[in-house]
Amino acid sequence: MRNEQAEKIKNHFNSKEIDYDVCANYVVPRNEELHNVIVNTIRHDRNSKIKILDLGVGTGLGAWKILSEFPYAHLTGIDFSSKMLKRCKERLSIFKNRILLVEANFNKIDFPEKYDVIISAVTIHNSKIEQQKDLILKAYKNLNNNGIFVNGDFIKSNSEHINQKLRNFYENYLREKLKGKELKTWLRHAFEEDKPVEIKTHLNWLKMAKFKKIECVWMYMNLAVYYGIK
Ligand SMILES: C[S@@+](CC[C@H](N)C(=O)[O-])C[C@H]1O[C@@H](n2cnc3c(N)ncnc32)[C@H](O)[C@@H]1O
Repeated sequence: MRNEQAEKIKNHFNSKEIDYDVCANYVVPRNEELHNVIVNTIRHDRNSKIKILDLGVGTGLGAWKILSEFPYAHLTGIDFSSKMLKRCKERLSIFKNRILLVEANFNKIDFPEKYDVIISAVTIHNSKIEQQKDLILKAYKNLNNNGIFVNGDFIKSNSEHINQKLRNFYENYLREKLKGKELKTWLRHAFEEDKPVEIKTHLNWLKMAKFKKIECVWMYMNLAVYYGIK
């Protein structure tokens, strides 16, 4: 069956209007901070030989930060956008012996192996809500014991009043930073294609998956970082 949501998202990130490295900070408020929080949330010894999976590795900002912080780690990055992966490969070329980049829809494949750390940044909200839940259950299954899942993502509130405020904030943010076709493309993506859910829903899915320690560690406006330990 055709998955229109996945096709829309893949087309968005493959589109010629998008130069994600140039616009990442213009479309994700506090993008660098969010990625730094993800790296800092990983509690493994910095010199350990951990295996990491990055869901929606994109152009590799988060992967670059993790591979720099963990010099013996190996990272597998999955992404279905060939354009994003091409840029990622260039960015991560200095780590070429420690990476595996897979072009695939992470909702459709079995993950290649088990990992100590599964991360995702600004990606899971792109999937249909049922798939977001299934992905968290799949992440749990593919973690080693004491492994950690860390997700930094767009979220929404459970209050319509706050959601309106968050929407105004984010729309103004995009309008201040972008213009023309690029602005139009990101407004459509943000308000028609994205499927953010409440932080409470994310944490409930972790609970349902049987993660034993669950915590939200950072929030800023319509973004949050949270983790679960298996
Ligand atoms: C905002 S970017 C991610 C940024 C990246 N994590 C970083 O470190 O900067 C979102 C990425 O997720 C990818 N993506 C979204 N849904 C996906 C799916 N179902 N399967 C594979 N990749 C997906 C998109 O192609 C895009 O490259």
